[in-house]
Amino acid sequence: MVGPGTGIAPFRAFLQHRAKHGHTGRNWLFFGDQHAATDFLYGDEFAAAQKAGTLHKLSTAFSRDQAEKIYVQHRMEQDGAELWRWLEKGAYFYVCGDAKRMAKDVHQALLTIAAKHGGKTPEQAEEYISVTLSKTEKRYLKDVY
Ligand SMILES: NC(=O)c1ccc[n+]([C@@H]2O[C@H](COP(=O)([O-])OP(=O)(O)OC[C@H]3O[C@@H](n4cnc5c(N)ncnc54)[C@H](OP(=O)(O)O)[C@@H]3O)[C@@H](O)[C@H]2O)c1
Repeated sequence: MVGPGTGIAPFRAFLQHRAKHGHTGRNWLFFGDQHAATDFLYGDEFAAAQKAGTLHKLSTAFSRDQAEKIYVQHRMEQDGAELWRWLEKGAYFYVCGDAKRMAKDVHQALLTIAAKHGGKTPEQAEEYISVTLSKTEKRYLKDVY
């Protein structure tokens, strides 16, 4: 689940739903916003979910807490080997939030990860992410605006 800014909304609901129904499959949330101190939306809920074992991994990117911008796609690439393993094991990849810049950059990060950790050529990475994952297997789903 990649949901920076307002994109967090559906993933909060996903986690609540999974907790209520006792679902145990692993999940991983990437959240980003400007400052941890003021913009970590529902941070307390996500910490509690981690503690309860209903959220397995949380990666945060606070863009303005340091001199250089750090965005969700940078966290994806830092953990690219692990993210690739999750995809190979059948993970669903959901993106919600800004369509103009974020979703495009997240898509590009997926291509980079498929090439770097999946050993794919740029053409094979495009085929895997944009066709196999998105259309054939329907495991790459976006709600962007
Ligand atoms: N119509 C409405 O009522 C309404 C309400 C809310 C949002 N929106 C629109 O919805 C979209 C999402 O806004 P949002 O409030 O959810 O937050 P956002 O503008 O997407 O910002 C959330 C985080 O994403 C970062 N970010 C900026 N560029 C990025 C990129 N290329 N890749 C990854 N992360 C990036 C921001 O960093 P920096 O800011 O530090 O660059 C910030 O840390 C925007 O287009 C916004 O204008 C509309």
